[in-house]
Amino acid sequence: MKRLILAALLTTAALPLSATAATATPQAAVLTAQRDGVEVTAGALKMRLIALADGVVRVRIARDGAYPEDASWAVLPEQRKARATVTATADGFTTASLRVRIGAGGAITFETLDGKVISADAAPVAIDGKSFTLRKSLPITEHFYGLGDKTGGLDRRGKEFVDWNTDAFGFTSADDPIYKSIPFFLSTGAPGGSYGILLDNTYRTWFDFGHRDADTLTFGGPDGPIDYYFVAGPSLAEVTRRYADLTGHAPLAPKWALGYQQSRYSYMSADEIREIARHLRADRVPTDVIWMDIDYQDRNRPFTTNPTTFPDLPKLTADMKAQGIKLVAITDLHIAKVETGYAPYTSGKRGDEFVKNPDGTDYVAPVWPGASVFPDFTQTKSRTWWGTLYKGFLEDGIAGFWNDMNEPAIFNTPTKTMPLDTVHRIASDDFAPRTGDHREIHNVYGMQNTRATYDGLLKLRPNERPFVMTRASYAGGQRYAVTWTGDNSATWDHLKLSVQQIINLGLSGFAYSAADVSGFAGGPSPDLLTRWFEIGAFTPVFRDHSATGTPRVEPWVDGPDHLAIRRRFVEERYRLMPYFYALADQNSRFGDPIVRPVFYDYPSAASMGCNQSMAFTLGKALLIAPPPSPESPQTYDVCLPAGGWYDYWTGLRAGTPEAATTGPIQSATQAVPTEHAKSERVLETPRLDRLPVFVRAGTILPRQPLVQSTAQTPSGPLMLDIYPGGECSGTLYEDDGTTLGYQRGAFFRQTVRCAATAAGVTVTFDGKEGSLAPWWKQIAVTLHGWQGPGRVTQNGASLGAESDVSAQTLRFTIAAPGKAARVTIEKN
Ligand code: GLC
Repeated sequence: MKRLILAALLTTAALPLSATAATATPQAAVLTAQRDGVEVTAGALKMRLIALADGVVRVRIARDGAYPEDASWAVLPEQRKARATVTATADGFTTASLRVRIGAGGAITFETLDGKVISADAAPVAIDGKSFTLRKSLPITEHFYGLGDKTGGLDRRGKEFVDWNTDAFGFTSADDPIYKSIPFFLSTGAPGGSYGILLDNTYRTWFDFGHRDADTLTFGGPDGPIDYYFVAGPSLAEVTRRYADLTGHAPLAPKWALGYQQSRYSYMSADEIREIARHLRADRVPTDVIWMDIDYQDRNRPFTTNPTTFPDLPKLTADMKAQGIKLVAITDLHIAKVETGYAPYTSGKRGDEFVKNPDGTDYVAPVWPGASVFPDFTQTKSRTWWGTLYKGFLEDGIAGFWNDMNEPAIFNTPTKTMPLDTVHRIASDDFAPRTGDHREIHNVYGMQNTRATYDGLLKLRPNERPFVMTRASYAGGQRYAVTWTGDNSATWDHLKLSVQQIINLGLSGFAYSAADVSGFAGGPSPDLLTRWFEIGAFTPVFRDHSATGTPRVEPWVDGPDHLAIRRRFVEERYRLMPYFYALADQNSRFGDPIVRPVFYDYPSAASMGCNQSMAFTLGKALLIAPPPSPESPQTYDVCLPAGGWYDYWTGLRAGTPEAATTGPIQSATQAVPTEHAKSERVLETPRLDRLPVFVRAGTILPRQPLVQSTAQTPSGPLMLDIYPGGECSGTLYEDDGTTLGYQRGAFFRQTVRCAATAAGVTVTFDGKEGSLAPWWKQIAVTLHGWQGPGRVTQNGASLGAESDVSAQTLRFTIAAPGKAARVTIEKN
């Protein structure tokens, strides 16, 4: 097809432009310039493209001439209202960084301003009855990520997926759909850079990344709004940040959520929980949380406690608190249909809070407690009612809550969920008050369940950070809950899958995620469990959990040798807590994932050639490189992106030392990828007690003395490891760990930088931000890559320093600088 020839040039906003196609088949597109984009008609097609920000364009496509309702469960209202400045062009418009062209038939092309294609329609939207299909060209260079924790490997290219939240007990590493629907994917490798697309449609949707036709990316659905958001990069980091802005940043979790968490379906009594806590403390496995699964309840009824096995919840939570352990309790959404003596049913029935059958009766179906009813979380008033149910457990001292089974899962039915014609009475946000059937609400039901929980907890304890864990969710669900990957299995395959799921969740907005360490179904071999602990220790949420009837998987179960390795990794996690917490702060402010694919910060890693299917970075600074085949003793190559790396465990340069490069010093939180000198390969021989971890040259890594729980204040100085290299920096972050005081300034944040000088290294502490005084009074600095003795001065005064020639370190301790300070290290 020849290029579209436009008949007229735009002169005034809102002046219709006629565009004539050079060929007869596609309908000519008529463009009407708008202040914020363009309206397009092409035959029966009518659509609006709205620039919400420089790199974000919303595409709304009308059906039968009518636009979908301007409402969303995913995209924040203020983001939908935001507008970028656009300049109308003959065939579309430009923003400060993007060119949008409309071709024949209304086909859309997104380009950079200098004409590199980011994404181009292969054909205009196709609408067939209620269903629709969007088709984009798929260059051979593109790869796809995101879509939440879907299985099938890290890269979505060549595969197809369906979004339909599904209780998927024992899912395999290829099953789809599973629990969540996050209809947002990201692409790398297009000529114009990375981009993402959020298809904001809560109905069942599907995505085909070149599976049926290698040259075409197609996605669509059988029903629902044709409403998508195009998010330009050009870096993957910028796409991720823009997506976080659109759908909401995950709130900063309580610090204890980053500690080790022990769970089991189920610890059967308060006594058993006490015994687990005793054992963890006796074995000195640092722990922050023990989880209470369904058996703590009375006959599986949510918001009850078994009076025999859990006779005194306040006493249990107090005893645990004394040991620095919090309790998280499951509170499933199904409410037992018990007519008398069960307050959640009585109050819910009184308020008419439950999902209906088409005939107006309450929909009733079996789940754990037997016959149950289901809150209509699409009504603001029902969410408010649900939130009040947490009052008692909060008063009893329960610290966090687990919303499970919220696909929603229904027993004894082949569909595993509600009938599609059940009725939800939508009365929320910008939606017109109306009913919607389960086809529309299914994928967003779990997210609204967590919203009700989160908002309810906040209302009950306005100054506490709520902690909610969910299984099902939708785009934007990170605003309310952390998540885990559901009922995985105790296999090596699932250990591999878990890494890929956590990476893709992070790219999909969910920075806080977990996979059950050990695998939920089945029983792990001792080696598998140990490896899972090692890798789990570097994932955002670190929870050991297993199914009823399976072998026990607490850290000690395989004897002292395995325990020693597992404990060592849990301990390392706690030493790294200041780094984890700074990453959590960074995530809440910018949306940067905590765990990332290596190519996120190091794009060239994608083409380095090693099998990187298990590699990931924790923030930008740490590269974790488990064996790509963790079950095999085969040696493997780790590809270290250009710039230089240190071995985390020895502190020595990894691979061949190269000249450290210095560049402009920027914030550690910067998302801009950096590339320096040559990259390296390191050959690794798998050993069960070793997990290769590398530190980027140019890192200032905060760590702390070992504690047994985040409730314990570390004693001694903060530890700061300096690994000289380009763009050398690190961030210290601290607050009280549990309240929202940090939002009112009660936090401590300080950026530390280092730079190579002719005589050595200078370390500068920026002025601090925030009003909180951190726990550390002193900072123990270890400068790596240092040969021989050194002379250290702080703001002119000299300090004692100890060098270790074999470790290539220089160590010294400074008083924690409350304001900007400079430390100079020079060769003696
Ligand atoms: C579901 C959850 C699992 C939990 C169990 C009992 O299978 O996915 O984690 O242990 O229900 O509540």
